[in-house]
Amino acid sequence: MRISHRSIEEVRETANLVEVASEFTALRRQGTRYVGLCPYPDHSEKTPSFSVSPERGFYYCFGCQKGGDAIKLVSEMKSLSFVEAVSYLADRSGVQLEYEGSSPAEAEAVKKRTARRRNTYKALAAAAVYYHKYLHKSSNAEQARAYLQTRRFHESTIEEFRLGYAPPRGRSGFIQAMRRLEIGREALDDAGLLSARGGERFAGRITFPIFDRRGRIVGFGARTMGDDQPKYLNTPETDIFNKRDLLYGLPQALEAIRKERAALVVEGYTDVLMLHQVGIKNAVATLGTATTPNHLKTLSGYADKIYVLFDPDAAGEKAIERASATAAELRLDLRVLRLTEDPADWLLEHPAEEFKELLSTAVPVLEYSIRRIVERTRGSDATSRSRAVPEVKSLIQEIRDPVLRREAVRLAAEALGISPRELQSSKTRATTRTSGQRLAVPSDPHLQAGWEVLALILTRPDLTAEPLEKGITSPSLPESLILKPEDFADEEQADIFSVLREHAGEDIDSILSDERIRSRMDQVGALSSEGEKLYPSEASVRQAWLRLGILSRQRAKRGTQDYDAKNRLHEEIQRLKEVLRNNPLES
Ligand code: CTP
Ligand code: MN
Repeated sequence: MRISHRSIEEVRETANLVEVASEFTALRRQGTRYVGLCPYPDHSEKTPSFSVSPERGFYYCFGCQKGGDAIKLVSEMKSLSFVEAVSYLADRSGVQLEYEGSSPAEAEAVKKRTARRRNTYKALAAAAVYYHKYLHKSSNAEQARAYLQTRRFHESTIEEFRLGYAPPRGRSGFIQAMRRLEIGREALDDAGLLSARGGERFAGRITFPIFDRRGRIVGFGARTMGDDQPKYLNTPETDIFNKRDLLYGLPQALEAIRKERAALVVEGYTDVLMLHQVGIKNAVATLGTATTPNHLKTLSGYADKIYVLFDPDAAGEKAIERASATAAELRLDLRVLRLTEDPADWLLEHPAEEFKELLSTAVPVLEYSIRRIVERTRGSDATSRSRAVPEVKSLIQEIRDPVLRREAVRLAAEALGISPRELQSSKTRATTRTSGQRLAVPSDPHLQAGWEVLALILTRPDLTAEPLEKGITSPSLPESLILKPEDFADEEQADIFSVLREHAGEDIDSILSDERIRSRMDQVGALSSEGEKLYPSEASVRQAWLRLGILSRQRAKRGTQDYDAKNRLHEEIQRLKEVLRNNPLES
């Protein structure tokens, strides 16, 4: 079975690469591009080398040299085949795929799967509406309305978060109502809305719809109003409901998180509601799990600072240590605050301003972890205290900020009763950070000069058309310097150059319509992003041309046995070097 070419093109064009890539890594805008940490699992890095160009629809990682379009990214990230990746993207952006030459059975299977998923979403959305209406309208919901009132949730909060009430057992018209909307048992079951016995899973409970980042309902949390166990029933895990990835209240909080570049992660659904209600709108909650690296990744797309608020318990502590490592990788300012009471309850007694003050006492996660380790060893003898040293030391080494680091050293040294020097011993770290990794193998200047020329041609056709066609001229040169494919260090560059030369002066879109270039999308994507970093100007173009001219002649000179040729090349090199020296550098 084949998806038609037209459909593939349509998917490629409609896919929002920034949004797609954001699912796998947190991106930050940087000029016309977005950058982030490389999402490829075999490339774990600490400084972002992954770059996405939304207009051009492709991405490239300067660290691991992987690149491509939305289809390629999805297939590699999710280990999907090309066809699966295309259908996934089609699904996301609502493109109706056309198939050609497929067996009817195969086409049918694909259609079925897509339809089934669509029905799951539809069932969840319909259930949320039903429960919400039931809460407001039904006389059976009086108790539920009273309950929410005693919790002091305002009508506007109930609306915004679409709280609802699932009809109690024996009173339900739910399944019939769904049937009227052409949502059958199968769809309800797929959506996790039915219990094992086939009844309503959430009957008699307050429903909290859980939205994904895009605002689609993917499941529910449902609280009993009494002492029933469990207190909350949640949607069972499905492929659209994964607790370790989801955050309660995210779409409602997103705007505030973006605006403040900060997010609060709390433990309970009700805490999110109350925080919003008192005007602290950048709060989300985990779904009964600790904060996972995926949660932080999601949030890091919008926030630089994240506060994790929790009650102390063993599980939470372990998770914080893991979160700390992720935060360091994502360069997040992660702060921790231990509470004595749930925010929902605390806020009933205290004004929001006071909560903000409390928040300002949150401790940077590393300091927090150090304190915890130190606390654990407090009061024990010197030998057991010294056992904490390596652990503390490795945490201290994670601290980048010299001020915070000194402070942490002081704190830990004092608590452990050792000299600060013992904690600072500078064993070189295993991972040295490389910033602004270059595209070409930096050890080969010839390759690098070639990449630079190509990058300039791609990004600045206006500046490079003339040098491409007429060459670089100078009074001290007997003839102009015209670059040829042979001037490049390797065949790949030479090939790209030959094609680009044919398109001199054309912009990237028309260059990309050339099949020969399309097949080299990875490199081209890389080059055009690289080009922007070169501060292109007339002078820098001249410089790049001259450098490559010189390097190619130097290589030729080394490679020839002919003394006349060696001499001629030597003279040419000297002249080009002189022009290069006198080339005014504007930027
Ligand atoms: N939770 C859950 N299942 C349970 C208990 C808790 O999934 N049986 C999750 C829910 O996401 C809940 C969070 O853990 O919001 C925190 O639990 P808890 O503090 O007990 O509930 P609150 O949300 O604070 O609810 P309330 O304020 O109504 O007690
Ligand atoms: Mn709670």
